[in-house]
Amino acid sequence: MNAEITFHLFLVVISTGLVKGTCPSTCSCSSDSSGSNVNCYSKNLGYIPDLPSDTFYIDLRYNSITEIDVQFCKEMPKLKTLLISNNQISEIPVNTFVDCELLQTIYLHNNKISAIEPFTFMNLHNLRYLYLYNNEISAIESFAFMNLPNLQYLYLHHNKIRSLESNTFINMTNLYELQLQYNDISTIESFSFMNLPSLRYLNLSGNNISHIEENAFGNLTSLSTLQLASNPLNCDCSIYPFWSWLIERAAIGTSAKCSDGKFVISLRSAALEQCNPDTCHCFNGGKCVTMANGLAVCDCIGEWTGELCQESQCISHDCGFGNCYIEPMNGTAQCVCDDTYINYCPERDLDMTSSN
Ligand SMILES: *[C@@H]1O[C@H](CO)[C@@H](O)[C@H](O)[C@H]1NC(C)=O
Ligand SMILES: *[C@@H]1O[C@H](CO)[C@@H](O)[C@H](O)[C@H]1NC(C)=O
Ligand SMILES: *[C@@H]1O[C@H](CO)[C@@H](O)[C@H](O)[C@H]1NC(C)=O
Ligand SMILES: *[C@@H]1O[C@H](CO)[C@@H](O)[C@H](O)[C@H]1NC(C)=O
Ligand SMILES: *[C@@H]1O[C@H](CO)[C@@H](O)[C@H](O)[C@H]1NC(C)=O
Repeated sequence: MNAEITFHLFLVVISTGLVKGTCPSTCSCSSDSSGSNVNCYSKNLGYIPDLPSDTFYIDLRYNSITEIDVQFCKEMPKLKTLLISNNQISEIPVNTFVDCELLQTIYLHNNKISAIEPFTFMNLHNLRYLYLYNNEISAIESFAFMNLPNLQYLYLHHNKIRSLESNTFINMTNLYELQLQYNDISTIESFSFMNLPSLRYLNLSGNNISHIEENAFGNLTSLSTLQLASNPLNCDCSIYPFWSWLIERAAIGTSAKCSDGKFVISLRSAALEQCNPDTCHCFNGGKCVTMANGLAVCDCIGEWTGELCQESQCISHDCGFGNCYIEPMNGTAQCVCDDTYINYCPERDLDMTSSN
């Protein structure tokens, strides 16, 4: 009796193992010493079938899969390649890729994903390719891509991303190409692209970028191409930090243009230099102050006026026959006629005429 129960249990365990371990009937599989290579390309699948636990390569492209609630690497610890593009997936649960130490390639493009939560792609130490383009991603939380030291290609173009948060693209030391074109990004916040020493191509074309904050791009020592075409960049003083970052990096090719069509790189006018508080020179004790629009202007004292406090108010103040004098309390020009201060001295003082 006991032996029989044990035997039945044994069978149950074996058959469960077999179900997990067999090739799904609609798919084709081959196996070699690295494990199973499963091909379920375009099989009308509405969900992910049970797969052999030694799967290292799975092709699920062109199906109608709506959910991805499998913790792939708990069930298939050898997984290296997951191709699940061209499906109907709308969200990626945060735990989907936990412990995917060996995973190198994820194709998730051409789905309906709308958001990437923090820590969704975290600690995937071997991940090289992450394709998320042509989805409906509107928000990427900070720390969505954490600790991906080997990621080389991150494709996020043709989504609906509205803004880039600080700490989104950070510390990916091998990231080579980042595609973000055709999203709805309007501002690039400080510290959006930090410590990406291998990044060569950054594509931000076709967004709605009008403003790039100071320190948006940090330590991009390998950057050779920064695509910013088709963005309405606002080239008032708020462009100054980006402009000065660019002109110090002549090696970076960029198509960045202002909304009026001028290349950002060609902005060298004195007006832009004046946006820099360090180069705004005020004469005669004037002080540089930064206005709300980012423009640094001179705040003049005493009689001094003009853009750089270079001009005495008395030059333009007509006193008629009197002398110009700067009222010490309020710094405005006054006229001295004889010994009285008035605004204008219409005629020569009689006393002065007689003494001459
Ligand atoms: C990024 O790398 C720097 C330097 O190694 C480290 O201090 C920082 O904590 C890292 N940040 C994140 C979010 O991993
Ligand atoms: C950036 O995107 C534009 C528009 O899709 C494309 O023409 C260009 O080739 C891309 N640049 C790079 C370096 O991939
Ligand atoms: C572009 O950005 C501006 C703000 O800078 C916003 O008012 C406008 O609605 C945006 N346009 C689109 C098409 O998203
Ligand atoms: C810039 O990157 C280099 C090389 O990865 C690194 O040694 C350095 O600490 C980084 N600097 C900053 C300010 O993050
Ligand atoms: C400055 O002081 C003089 C003398 O007191 C006065 O007449 C003049 O109206 C003052 N001007 C302003 C702008 O306050």
